[in-house]
Amino acid sequence: MSIRKVVQLLAVVVMVCAMAGAAVAGPIVIKFSHVVAEDTPKGLMANKFRDLVKERLGGKVVVEVYPNSQLFNDDKVMSAMLLGDVQLAAPALSKFEKYTKKLQLFDLPFLFKDMDAVERFQKSAKGKELLNSMTDKGILGLGYIHNGLKQLSSDKPLRVPEDAKGLKFRIMSSDVLAAQFDALDAVPVKKPFSEVFTLLQTKAIDGQENTWSNMYTQKFYEVQPYITVTNHGLLDYMVVTSTEFWNGLPGDVRTVLEKCLDEAITYGNKISSDLQVKARQDIADSGRSQIITLTPGQREQWVEIMKPVWKKFESEIGKDMVDAAVASNK
Ligand code: LMR
Repeated sequence: MSIRKVVQLLAVVVMVCAMAGAAVAGPIVIKFSHVVAEDTPKGLMANKFRDLVKERLGGKVVVEVYPNSQLFNDDKVMSAMLLGDVQLAAPALSKFEKYTKKLQLFDLPFLFKDMDAVERFQKSAKGKELLNSMTDKGILGLGYIHNGLKQLSSDKPLRVPEDAKGLKFRIMSSDVLAAQFDALDAVPVKKPFSEVFTLLQTKAIDGQENTWSNMYTQKFYEVQPYITVTNHGLLDYMVVTSTEFWNGLPGDVRTVLEKCLDEAITYGNKISSDLQVKARQDIADSGRSQIITLTPGQREQWVEIMKPVWKKFESEIGKDMVDAAVASNK
């Protein structure tokens, strides 16, 4: 066979292999792992994103959502993402401490007066800056999702800070939250979300802090006779991906994904406050948990006792960030 024929033959073989490769390559799969129920702000947002992608990029990209810690707990999901085992996650802002100290901002007790202030801050230049606070670790923030403000639940009625003394509270993996319970002379216990119900049920811990929606969907109210309305802290999320994965996507696909994500986030954030109101009502209607509201004087005592936590973390977070967050309250 002439050299020319051999080259032609090789070219055909290469082409056939490339076509076969393309045929088996299939769509880009985006695994989105999270820890909450599907009927929560984050769960509904993730499903909305999956549906929008199916509508607009069907065939090219498939989003698979894994709720309820089915795939990973929040303490494992970040390393799984960096290894390429999942492509999207949305851990609570309290769970990024290993990657940046800046996001500790969101855990400062009594920082935001309501969710409108949170929204204003997250949309501001400073808020957006924080989406890039982990790029040096290969993690990119794509947006914020709201859950809502946290309440305290316990085996005992909590009206003044003294009532929490000596009690064990489950917290997310955050040193700010640990300091918050230290300030009460209580005992903070860092545990994954998926273990909280059993810890409460078996009385291994006395209480926890969470939003109405999480307390309702995880049935914490069935094993916690008292919930105090404190609104003392924020439980919001950052949707994150690996910088390598995101930047490696074809540009046109990435643009559509960003649009779908923005729309899904807007949708999730819009329904989040209604979900809190409904969950609070459902808990009240169940009669399982007594909901305690504080007098202004009682509330002030919680604010006073937790306030020194701010000073401890201010230098790591940056005073400029704290000031910007406070300014969003006006
Ligand atoms: C928690 O661990 O309490 C929350 O982060 C769970 C969640 O994702 O809302």
